Amino acid sequence: MSDELSYVKWFRNAAPYINSHKGKTFVVMFGGDAINDPNFGNIVHDFVLLQSLGVRLVLIHGARPQIDERLALRGIESRFHNNVRITDAESIVAVKDAIGSIRADIEAMFSTGIANSPMHNARIKVAGGNLVVAKPLGIIDGIDHERSGEVRKIHADSIKQLLDDGNIVLLSTLGFSGTGEVFNVHLEDLAVSTAVALKADKLVVISSRAGLLDDNGNLVKQCNLAHAKNLIGESRLRHAVIGACEKGVPRSHIISYKQDGALLHELFTRQGCGTLVSQDPFESLRAATLNDVPGILGLLQPLEEQGVLVKRSRELLETDINKFVVIEVDGLIVGCAALYLFEGTDQAELACITVHPDYRDGDRGERLLQHIEDLALRENVARLFVLTTRTAHWFQERGFEPESLNNLPEKKQALYNYQRNSKAFAKPLI
Ligand SMILES: CC(C)(COP(=O)(O)OP(=O)(O)OC[C@H]1O[C@@H](n2cnc3c(N)ncnc32)[C@H](O)[C@@H]1OP(=O)(O)O)[C@@H](O)C(=O)NCCC(=O)NCCS
Repeated sequence: MSDELSYVKWFRNAAPYINSHKGKTFVVMFGGDAINDPNFGNIVHDFVLLQSLGVRLVLIHGARPQIDERLALRGIESRFHNNVRITDAESIVAVKDAIGSIRADIEAMFSTGIANSPMHNARIKVAGGNLVVAKPLGIIDGIDHERSGEVRKIHADSIKQLLDDGNIVLLSTLGFSGTGEVFNVHLEDLAVSTAVALKADKLVVISSRAGLLDDNGNLVKQCNLAHAKNLIGESRLRHAVIGACEKGVPRSHIISYKQDGALLHELFTRQGCGTLVSQDPFESLRAATLNDVPGILGLLQPLEEQGVLVKRSRELLETDINKFVVIEVDGLIVGCAALYLFEGTDQAELACITVHPDYRDGDRGERLLQHIEDLALRENVARLFVLTTRTAHWFQERGFEPESLNNLPEKKQALYNYQRNSKAFAKPLI
């Protein structure tokens, strides 16, 4: 495909996401390490693009390495208790110093308007202020945390007003008390409190990791809260992602600040590049086992009787069970799909993709397809094909194009059932 055509295709595929993100509130959190990364300039450009597409953006920045640097310059030792900084009267000066300087740098980056840059013609206003009320953390385990505070209230109405007026809101990890003192607050605490107070649609955590990994070290692209709890150990990330989800933020994303374009890739493509944690009820998408055979048969049989799917015997299903993946909801198999590889070719067949009628229209078919595509990619499959009689449009809407039977692997052609007269569709994966 030519560059122009693939660009057009990419843009069309992004359209549903553009429409769905418009007018939504995203709270985006990143630490001082992200700001120090050479990719941070690109991230700012992507923030501008999101804002131009109508996303209401609240950015929350940390400053840990910058504060440490300033404390070191002043000869003050950084002190932590349970990973929480102890901010004494001397340290808060360094904290204000670091945060003031970071804010100025970020605001300057949003003000760049030079021609040939993605910021050209984008007049971006960044707003902030005394929008966070804090109270002292107090004495924990006998240790006075002095000017380290916790969020007491977020002035959500004021933030909404600033967003309504077309600003990007930038919050720093400082809170102000009714006594007129400044407190250093935790980045994760601030991000979760802000997302909850604004009833944000998403919390995006831009971190040093690409997302959550499973036991085999593979990136988990999507998981529910229960699954995420098993994947994230006790950490600041857990505090943010799990905390937000438990308090009602529907979706959290984890992406890396090191990867150029990660924000756009995650938010505007089906594949994404990080991890999405959502609040869905417990539901898992996993490889099938022999115990699932009765559940899969129950799912496929009605469709086989209607002629939508080719009939498969229990024996064949048992033999092929390792080719299947299933979606299980509370012990019930509600969806399945299979991947058949063809040795000596770079093609594979997607077969038996089915979702129980009561569970359709919930993106489960989409997730099964995505999972099969991921498995196929890991096997270096370049083209995924499917034979269908009644579901052509569903596949075409997901990147499959009509394919001549002559281009299918010979083994498949030999088995083709002319009476069924299925049509072939294929999707390039690489
Ligand atoms: C195709 C199927 C797996 C989709 O599952 P799902 O979980 O409902 O899929 P999603 O939620 O991701 O997608 C739903 C969308 O697909 C559309 N859709 C469902 N079946 C379709 C079909 N046969 N043709 C075209 N579009 C179809 C729905 O109308 C819905 O569209 P919308 O988003 O515009 O409302 C499911 O409908 C099914 O099991 N069908 C019967 C089995 C089948 O035909 N399998 C393919 C064999 S080759």
